[in-house]
Amino acid sequence: MKKTARAHTNIALIKYWGKADAQLRLPLMSSLSMTLDAFYSETSISASEENEFFLNDEKQTDQSAQRVFSYLQYLQDRFGVSGKLKVESTNHVPTAAGLASSSSAFAALATAFCAFYDLDVNRRELSRLARIGSGSASRSIFGGFAIWQKGTDDESSFAYPLDETPSLDLSLLAVELNQNQKKLPSTKGMKDAQASPFFEPWIKRNDLELNEMIAAIKSNDFTKIGSLAELNANEMHAINLTAQPGFTYFEPDTIRAIKLIEELRSKGIECYYTIDAGPNLKILTQQKNIKEVKKIFLSEFNNVNIVKATFGPGVTVLD
Ligand code: PMV
Repeated sequence: MKKTARAHTNIALIKYWGKADAQLRLPLMSSLSMTLDAFYSETSISASEENEFFLNDEKQTDQSAQRVFSYLQYLQDRFGVSGKLKVESTNHVPTAAGLASSSSAFAALATAFCAFYDLDVNRRELSRLARIGSGSASRSIFGGFAIWQKGTDDESSFAYPLDETPSLDLSLLAVELNQNQKKLPSTKGMKDAQASPFFEPWIKRNDLELNEMIAAIKSNDFTKIGSLAELNANEMHAINLTAQPGFTYFEPDTIRAIKLIEELRSKGIECYYTIDAGPNLKILTQQKNIKEVKKIFLSEFNNVNIVKATFGPGVTVLD
């Protein structure tokens, strides 16, 4: 018997960037995201002679396999089930290039696991299980806009949907400036960032920014959503730059792309950006401006890959 689940990636408009508890992956702040239709992971689980992990048809034996196996062990212990498992995952996401593929990967894995063992878990519990695999995965259980409330323990730290089928005209253009694997994993980045003198003030702003974002979403205010997402992302990257020692995920092309967005805005083409733990920009814009934004980026950057996305669905079991 084989069980397969599909989960879409999400992009945080209010970022998670700091853990209160590394084991349980409890965050220091609540976050809010948009689930994306264009990027997803499909993961199958079946019984096997030994634990095996295949990613995009290739057997993995490195750290990523260890992470998957120890996560499965955790789930088996938690539910009192056993057996060796074969995990086959296909990522329709550029792995580790700043388009958090771990969000879709662990949401799909947690869901496939529960389907395989026929466990009766609701979506809130699924979100908590996905969180243990990767924090951002807690939000990929849901479609549209999701909020991960930080909570104070395993029970209370989960994501829930804000609006699973938004009617808002909002598109994301993922600009793949740099296809290299990121050198600094998010776990280390968010740990090191805590040494910034601006870390505490940023945490203190979390409630305010989250509530402003919720209000902007409820009133379909694209301008507010975009500018707030951009501010929040820049705060996260400012914290990285001011950590002791400072670091950044930006590459020279990241700055060029930021400048280009500013230029587009000054010409009346409304667009904003957000950036995760990598050099690539995700542009937030609206239907009427997609063509123009794409055209200008393609003419300014050689060989740049731009993929359009909008709201995607929550996790599903496929068979
Ligand atoms: O859950 P992780 O380890 O992939 O961390 C995600 C960190 C960011 O993508 C930068 C922010 C977020 O909230 O998704």
